[in-house]
Amino acid sequence: MSKVSALYPGSFDPPTNGHLDLIERGARIFEELVVGILRNSEKIPMFSLAERLEMLKTLTAHLKNVRIESFHGLMVEYAKSIHATCVLRGIRAVSDYEYELQMALMNRKLEPTLETVFMMPADKYSYVSSRLVREVAQAGGPVKGLVPEVVEQKLREKLEPAYRFHDEMQKASPGASGSRGTTRKGKKKI
Ligand code: PNS
Repeated sequence: MSKVSALYPGSFDPPTNGHLDLIERGARIFEELVVGILRNSEKIPMFSLAERLEMLKTLTAHLKNVRIESFHGLMVEYAKSIHATCVLRGIRAVSDYEYELQMALMNRKLEPTLETVFMMPADKYSYVSSRLVREVAQAGGPVKGLVPEVVEQKLREKLEPAYRFHDEMQKASPGASGSRGTTRKGKKKI
């Protein structure tokens, strides 16, 4: 049987533990796995393409059959250019299915020889998404366990003021966001 190369496309803004889990699973079943980061000129990402490439290269350095690249334009055309015969996508919950099905069928229409393969990340990551990680981090909240440590560090560097504000608020009023009956200055709410 010939070698099966797969493409795992996505935005990875930022890469999460769910992405990494899927990359590791993919690397075990495909001979070669290319992680393709979409260069999307329509969206302003939190992390530049260079930052995402660097983070993913660091995170997958131990996986010898994984390569990190970027692409723009149609995913199916990029897949063809790198001789990938499969597209790997993750499905966390039923809610992902509808969008993923639509995308897989559109991609099949565009390129009938390209197969989409769905894999499930570990259930402990079933609620983890880049969007929610960004939202939590932008409010200075903890993302430990949701993203790899290098990503956590990068988020802290990038969102330093938000984390500083959050930490100061926590110090002034531990564990509070109003729910324990205290104001920002620690005074009892009346
Ligand atoms: O991480 P994401 O944002 O869910 O990944 C979506 C991605 C990059 C896989 C998808 O938007 C994509 O393939 N974009 C490239 C343009 C394209 O081929 N569009 C047609 C998809 S049906």
